[in-house]
Amino acid sequence: MTLILGLESSCDDSAAALVTGDRRVLAHAVLGQNSAHQPYGGVVPEIAARAHVEVLPGLIRHVLDEAGCKPEQIDAVAATAGPGLIGGVMVGLLAGKGLALALRKPLVAVNHLEGHALSPRLTDPDLPFPYLLLLASGGHCQLLEVRGVGDYRRLATTIDDAAGEAFDKAAKLLGLGYPGGPAIEQLAREGDPHAVPLPRPLVGSGEPHFSFAGLKSAVQRAVAAHVHRPADIAASFQQAVVDCLIDRTRLALDRSDVPTLVVAGGVAANRRIRSALQELAEASGRRFSVPPGWLCTDNAAMIAWAGAERFAHGFIDRLDAPARARWPLDAAAETVRGAGVKA
Ligand code: KG4
Ligand code: ZN
Repeated sequence: MTLILGLESSCDDSAAALVTGDRRVLAHAVLGQNSAHQPYGGVVPEIAARAHVEVLPGLIRHVLDEAGCKPEQIDAVAATAGPGLIGGVMVGLLAGKGLALALRKPLVAVNHLEGHALSPRLTDPDLPFPYLLLLASGGHCQLLEVRGVGDYRRLATTIDDAAGEAFDKAAKLLGLGYPGGPAIEQLAREGDPHAVPLPRPLVGSGEPHFSFAGLKSAVQRAVAAHVHRPADIAASFQQAVVDCLIDRTRLALDRSDVPTLVVAGGVAANRRIRSALQELAEASGRRFSVPPGWLCTDNAAMIAWAGAERFAHGFIDRLDAPARARWPLDAAAETVRGAGVKA
């Protein structure tokens, strides 16, 4: 059975994993860098890149030890080649290239978004193509038709912030830590989701695009007003995001005949969001699939798995494969007005 080593370094998580072509995760490890970026209130690209340099070799050794594998047993090395913070992407991709060269094994340069997009197929062996994918992470919020490995059609994207970015900004306004998603989800459990009136940007509009910037501004005003409990603001914010995601996804489902709805990316770790999307899928007669939480947030098992799927198709890359800061899954997708800064 093919054995793939996966490496991830596109943002502030360094990760390595060993995954087999028959869907066994032999070992995976993720090291976040929260404390290194904490004093700056956000991810500092230079600090992130240096941290990847420091920890990736140890992570690779760790997953090999844990799986009881020798480097020579690896059949291909899959490394994230973008999109992301370019310094970090270069670190992981160069590590992958060095290993591929030394082991004389093929390199698979993986698009991080394809890692998220194919991740549900790692834990759900019966998930066939095509499926409608809601990809909601810190950098992206898109609806895509996943037709096959390397075959994506983007139906919608965000015109301003990504869903995870909205969670992070709202959390910061509420004085919670980074990443904001898990912190808001936890606080929201003690709050009333209908206590604070917040907008649902673009809900009801004719194209299934997303917008979250106005919601963030409304949270800012609610916090400044000192009228509501933080837990009520968190719960109301989370409910507003759920309503936006559901309305936009429902529109895309209405226009599509794909039999399955899938959600992936860090925001898919959110229980309220998972259950609301499951209800939507069931109400529209679709099958629903979502990876376990650990596979939704950034990790290298999804990169190894995307590498395994690409390798099985014969999609391997040369050692001069470029690191890319931007790399849309659907290169033909039109730029949406207001979305100038998103891939
Ligand atoms: O996929 P991911 O780990 O990294 C990117 O590729 O961006 O997504 C990270 C994002 C962050 O914005 C984080 O706040 C959000 O996913 N997130 C969540 C939850 N866990 C992580 N958002 C809502 N609820 C969660 N439980
Ligand atoms: Zn990601």
